[in-house]
Amino acid sequence: MPHRPYVIDEMISAKSIAARVEALAKEITASYRGTNKLVVVGLLRGSFVFIADLVRAMNLALEVDFMAVSSYGDRPSSSGVVRILKDLNSSIAGRHVIVVEDIVDTGLTLDYLVENLQTRHPASLKVCALLDKREARKREVAVEYIGFHCPNEFVVGYGLDYCGRYRNLPAIGVLKPEVYRKAE
Ligand code: IMP
Repeated sequence: MPHRPYVIDEMISAKSIAARVEALAKEITASYRGTNKLVVVGLLRGSFVFIADLVRAMNLALEVDFMAVSSYGDRPSSSGVVRILKDLNSSIAGRHVIVVEDIVDTGLTLDYLVENLQTRHPASLKVCALLDKREARKREVAVEYIGFHCPNEFVVGYGLDYCGRYRNLPAIGVLKPEVYRKAE
């Protein structure tokens, strides 16, 4: 059973993630206290683990919705092309929105999304990302809530994948070189 974590060189432990998510949820709860029109929007698929933990630690009345946008496919580099594969189920007009993202890399996805969501006239729109790969940024986007800063390396686990796999690892880390070799 414990063979799973050994495919990565661990960068952030499950324990550290849990503590940081708890702290983020507290911070968000304090900022949005008294808000009754909050919608937390998760970007599929990478944010599904993070958003599940985050909203359960938020002591607020809120709704959860999801969007799916095209990502890199199997290539760990940005194409810059963003397509909406699944849109929100409900209108966000007049609602306070928090977009939850797994990782901000080039910023191209969020840049497109924030602009798109702003045209729908939310009361406010903020972004919460578990990981921030600052050095890889090509487009400046405001990220109000950040879990951890991440070096410019390809990471997996806690929702993040490589070729669709490793999302279920409880920790975050870099895949060991031999795992890449096996996948070739
Ligand atoms: P951006 O548009 O370059 O900011 O890319 C954001 C998306 O790319 C994230 O939501 C992830 O799905 C994916 N991504 C970027 N870096 C990584 C990584 O290190 N591991 C896994 N997915 C990543």
